[in-house]
Amino acid sequence: MGIKITTTGHYLPALKVSNDDLTQYMDTSHEWINKRTGISSRHIATNENTSDLASEAAKRILAKSGISAEELDFIIVATMTPDALSPSTACIVQEKIGASKAFCFDISAACSGFVYALSNASHLMKSGNYDKGLVIGAETMSKVINWQDRSTAVLFGDGAGGVLLERTDSPEDSFLAEDLHADGSRHLALVADHKNVQNPFTEVKETQSYYLEMDGRGIFDFAIRNVPETINRIIANSTLSKDDVAWVVAHQANKRLLEAISKKSNIPFEKFGLNIADTGNTSAASIPILLDQMIESNQIQAGENILLTGFGGGLTWGSLLIKL
Ligand code: ACO
Repeated sequence: MGIKITTTGHYLPALKVSNDDLTQYMDTSHEWINKRTGISSRHIATNENTSDLASEAAKRILAKSGISAEELDFIIVATMTPDALSPSTACIVQEKIGASKAFCFDISAACSGFVYALSNASHLMKSGNYDKGLVIGAETMSKVINWQDRSTAVLFGDGAGGVLLERTDSPEDSFLAEDLHADGSRHLALVADHKNVQNPFTEVKETQSYYLEMDGRGIFDFAIRNVPETINRIIANSTLSKDDVAWVVAHQANKRLLEAISKKSNIPFEKFGLNIADTGNTSAASIPILLDQMIESNQIQAGENILLTGFGGGLTWGSLLIKL
């Protein structure tokens, strides 16, 4: 019995906003954004929330796989932009797709969220208690962005992607190795929707920004240092060499950053999947969106070894070595 990633899917909201479009709202330019980040446009939700994007991705996965929503044992949604603190976004997705048997919860690990969620899901499946589960990364980053702040507003986009895990009769397993990390001492490097205790008994009334605030340079430096380390560690802890890895599906934060990670980890940049030009940084959704696009375009072939690597707020980072 093996645990396999059998189906992938994604959904992007219809509105595409170009760098030139953004110049109407802030002092920026296509040249600055594209040169520093590799981003040309991003999809932005207008009246859909995170659970809507996640549900559309889920429906596409179910339609592709041919299984019904009632067969799902669990739904995990990785997100830093949930519809609400309660209920979880995963519970709303359950209702929207009709997965009445599934237990549901969200995982919060910012841009590493999908890697964290997929790792957790693989272990749930390995318990032997479950046969089918959905893991989705979904974000509406546009609702936590300060649209007056050009240093962050140009970077992010909205979207959702996910995978279906199934127990199969084949002894082959999709999950070859994992390597997850966090460093809470650097939690202030990326903060969004911070809430202080404010009640009638609070002495000091503080007003903290709701919007996403980020130490861009700090995160860039962290990723260049820590992501090659996790890549080296996961390869060392597996039976594979870097040459055996067909593709790196990394969190799409910045093209220049991915080039630096490729160089430092000694994996040719041609092996790095890329969609940041059209999606921007969709946080926990970026890896499953890219994975599905690469499978759909036949870039990724069945049986290939894929390295997923995520990094972001928390700080969190980590990798999964999977075989499709
Ligand atoms: N348009 C034009 N000019 C701009 C813009 C903009 N959109 N944004 C900033 N600038 C200006 C700045 O004001 C500054 O001007 P100054 O020199 O006159 O002061 C200049 O450009 C340089 O700004 P820096 O912030 O130093 O630019 P940098 O080269 O560091 O690039 C960037 C910024 C793109 C944010 C980069 O640091 C980066 O990509 N960091 C990684 C961030 C990241 O990946 N975050 C997501 C983490 S994932 C998660 O957990 C959600």
